[in-house]
Amino acid sequence: MLTVTHLRQRILDSGAAAEVAHALGFTQADLSDVPDREVLTAFAQLSCDRPDLRARLHRHAFPDFGALGRYTGDTPLYHLEGGFGTAHEISRLADKHGLALESASAVLDFGCGTSRVLRFLVEFLPGPRYYGTEVFREVIDWGRATFPEITYLHHGPRPPLPLDATRFDVAYAYSIFSHLDEPVHLAWLNELRRAMRPGGLLIVTIQSDAARRRLREREFAQRLGVSRPAELCKQFDTEGFGFEACYDQKSLSDGGLDPQSFGITLIARSYIETKWAGFELLEHLPGAISDFQDWVVLRAV
Ligand SMILES: C[S@@+](CC[C@H](N)C(=O)[O-])C[C@H]1O[C@@H](n2cnc3c(N)ncnc32)[C@H](O)[C@@H]1O
Repeated sequence: MLTVTHLRQRILDSGAAAEVAHALGFTQADLSDVPDREVLTAFAQLSCDRPDLRARLHRHAFPDFGALGRYTGDTPLYHLEGGFGTAHEISRLADKHGLALESASAVLDFGCGTSRVLRFLVEFLPGPRYYGTEVFREVIDWGRATFPEITYLHHGPRPPLPLDATRFDVAYAYSIFSHLDEPVHLAWLNELRRAMRPGGLLIVTIQSDAARRRLREREFAQRLGVSRPAELCKQFDTEGFGFEACYDQKSLSDGGLDPQSFGITLIARSYIETKWAGFELLEHLPGAISDFQDWVVLRAV
């Protein structure tokens, strides 16, 4: 499982312990007593602010956030602090449900964006073959040039995945099923089921009751870009699934996306239990991500 101990060790190995301790206000370079949260924040912040330390703390280059981050909302701090936090949680959930990433043979990041999660997994939990898929050609090209140990697959806005015979032990999708309309998300779930081995784990985020509650705040709905929150929530309440194609249509089509199928999605647990064929629901953590998105763990059956 990925933990802050991996970061502590990297800091020690890179000879940056004194600088990190200094940034945290400690005089000695021993980080063992420093709380995890502070070590992670210092690791991320110093990686962003200090190119000299960045080169020692990381084995792979960072993306051009202005260019590539526009597709995924990536900023340097989100990439590092958020990427580590997400990688930690995915590895914890996989461990908990009996499929430690380190012992898997093939792991898929479906919709990997700028590889902010894969970055930590390939560096700290080597073992499986890691795969990343994306609709955005530019992030795939950048990923291939930056992480030679990852297999990248480019795909269209609808299935299939250009897969060989590989069947994944673990597949995860962060902030993907929170954005797709009903036919497209069901089609991708079906495709992911096809790509996984029976018994494999699928770990995804969704937006459900926590997001629905917060959409009542006008400011929150505006920040998300949802223009008709009442209609979205009503559809969710009656059908267990709500979708609004709320993003800028032109920039989505410029990026190769189908603008009518990508927006804000609400999915109820009962909908997952009845409509997500081929998967058994193992765990649901409502609002676990910033009181907004939920983690859902499923087993391919
Ligand atoms: C918010 S980003 C999440 C990126 C990444 N998982 C992360 O956490 O940084 C949303 C992702 O949705 C994916 N996406 C958009 N339209 C899609 C479609 N029609 N089918 C599959 N994936 C799509 C894109 O790959 C995009 O990277």
